[in-house]
Parts: sequence; structure tokens; C-alpha cells
Amino acid sequence: MPSEVRAVQELVKDGHMNAVPEDYILPEEERPKLADGVSADHALPVIDMKGVEGERRGFIVEQIREACAQWGFFQVTNHGVPLPLIARMQQVSREFFELPLEDKMKYRSPNEEQMLVSEGYGTKVAAKKGAFANWGDQLRHKSLPASQRNYDRWPTNPSSFREIEEGYIEEQDKLVKRILELISESLGLESSYLNDHLVGKLTQTLLMNYYPHCPQPELVLGVQRHSDFGLLTLLVQDVDDAPGLQVTKDGDWITVMPMDGAVIVNLGDQMEMLSNGKYKSIEHRAFVTGSKPRMSIVAFTYPTDETVVGPISDLLSAEELPKYGRCSFGEYRSSFIASSGAHGKSHIQSMAIV
Ligand code: OGA
Ligand code: NI
Repeated sequence: MPSEVRAVQELVKDGHMNAVPEDYILPEEERPKLADGVSADHALPVIDMKGVEGERRGFIVEQIREACAQWGFFQVTNHGVPLPLIARMQQVSREFFELPLEDKMKYRSPNEEQMLVSEGYGTKVAAKKGAFANWGDQLRHKSLPASQRNYDRWPTNPSSFREIEEGYIEEQDKLVKRILELISESLGLESSYLNDHLVGKLTQTLLMNYYPHCPQPELVLGVQRHSDFGLLTLLVQDVDDAPGLQVTKDGDWITVMPMDGAVIVNLGDQMEMLSNGKYKSIEHRAFVTGSKPRMSIVAFTYPTDETVVGPISDLLSAEELPKYGRCSFGEYRSSFIASSGAHGKSHIQSMAIV
């Protein structure tokens, strides 16, 4: 177990720091630019799910198709996750990160070089030579199936943490299933197709990201650019925080403004492969600011390790040949991790059939 404390929050705690440590400083071309994120032409689609069980459904499916094909990213409102539950989850997460370091260390991740597969509190360190550290701390839990939970790494302070997190996990899972229905329909499949196809084959990980303010925000990123390697990601920002999330669109970075009551939906690499490239898994990143911390709460849905991933056969035909190969998700994840540090979409490209 590494003994050195890496929490970014500790670096800025007393306000003395005015230069960030070397290993957080990105090469010029990876740094966020002031001009990034402002585009008069583009705004991430917002899809209002109100009336989704009624006559608006066809219209909503149409919007989902467009957003998945053009953006791979969208926000949903009236999504059915109770807003007070989201607010409570944000509140207890913030309270956790604001605890003294020694209290958080009780839940410390045993492997900060492998935060993607580990659990608990920690900072994703630059594990490889030539890689750069992220300006952020995390609390990560394997959340579904419930049998995978390791409650030793779940905070007991604040005391309501566990109950609120359990409720949150369940509501995020229900929203994933509703969105998978709409995505199925948007691909011309039966509504229950993806949920049936993936029944018993999905897991969920919950991630709370805490990005402290930074004395030199123009040199670092909270999360460097990447695509998510799973199936579907749900992300919530706090409207009281500054923005941070940016997604790529036609070569530009677009800032996703925090929106009251909205959940951000992000298609992962598995959705791109499963849809045979009709839908996109898009590169994104998070920048940080000089004045205030920012938090995001992220629910990742992954296939189980044994699940064979790749284009679904019902979408293939003599005219629609597979654009990606097949492998188990466990293999995909391992090689994704082995190649990360390498940026962006390099990994899914390795699955492309050319
Ligand atoms: C992630 C991610 C962005 C954010 O954790 O995969 O993209 O805004 N986070 O925290
Ligand atoms: Ni991501």
C-alpha cells in the first residue's frame, strides 16, 4: 500500500500553494484553452422525457436517435430520478470530501495506480512514465449487483451515506433501463431488446469525483480526454458549481453547462460497438477552475467480464457488415487499461475491422 498521501485536496488545503506539482502539468496541446467550450453553433441536446410513456414517445425516440448518432452525449430532464434524492446524494458526497483526511483514509483505495478497477477513496495517479496526473480526488464503489458491494469502503460518516447511496444506485439503474428501451427503439429493435439481451450481464460502478480549485487551472485537467469504455454512463453536475465537463463535437470542445434537474447521458465504447458504429462513444474531459471545487457523480454501466461484446447480430446483414470484432468485456477492459495513458479513442479503434 503506498504510504504517500496523494489527495489533491490536501495540496491546496491551506491556500499556500501557488504552483502545481510537475506531474499534473500537461503538455501544451492537451491543456484547456480559454477559447475552448464556447460555440455559438452547438449546444448539447436536452431531451425532455416528460410523457415518454404516452404520445410523446415517438418524438423522444427520434431525439434520442439523433443525439446518439450526432453527439453520443445528451442531457435528459423529467427522467424519473427524484430530484431530492440527487440533491441528498450530492450533499453527503460533499460532506464526505470535506472530512479531515484521516477520516477519508479509512476508505482508501488499495491500488491508486489502478483506480479504474479498484474501489474506495483515492486519487488516480499517473501510473505510467510519460502519463500525467488528474487534478481530482475520487470515491469509487462497485454498486451493482448488490452482491459485489464492499461496504468496508462505504463511508459511515455522514451516517445517512449508505442509505442515500443505495437509493441513488437503484434509481440510476432504473433510468439506465428506461434509456436502454428508448435506444433499442431508436435502433429499430423491440423496446425490451437491449434489456433482454443484457439481462444478468450488467454491472454498475458509482464514482464521486471531487475536483479541488487549482492555482494554475490552465495547466491541468480534472480528467484528461477519454471515452468511457463501458456501455452507458450517467453523470450529474451540481448547478451551484462552475462548469467543467467538455465533450468533443466536430473537432471543438463544447462545455456542458450544469442544468438544474438534468442527468447527462454518455454512450460508452460498448454502445458504439454494439450498434455497429451507428452510435458514438465520444471523447470528453473535465477542466478545473481557480476559485471553487467542483463535484460530479457518475454511474457507469458495464457488461460483466464474461459477456462477449461487439455488434449485435440483429443489426447485421449482407449490407451491414460488422465494423468491430468481438471479445469478452474483461479482455476489452484489460487492454483498454493497458493502453490508457494513450489518449482518447485509441482503444476502440483497435477493435475496428478495416
Ligand atoms: C468520468 C468523467 C467527467 C466529469 O469520470 O469518466 O468523464 O465531469 N468525468 O467529472
Ligand atoms: Ni468519462
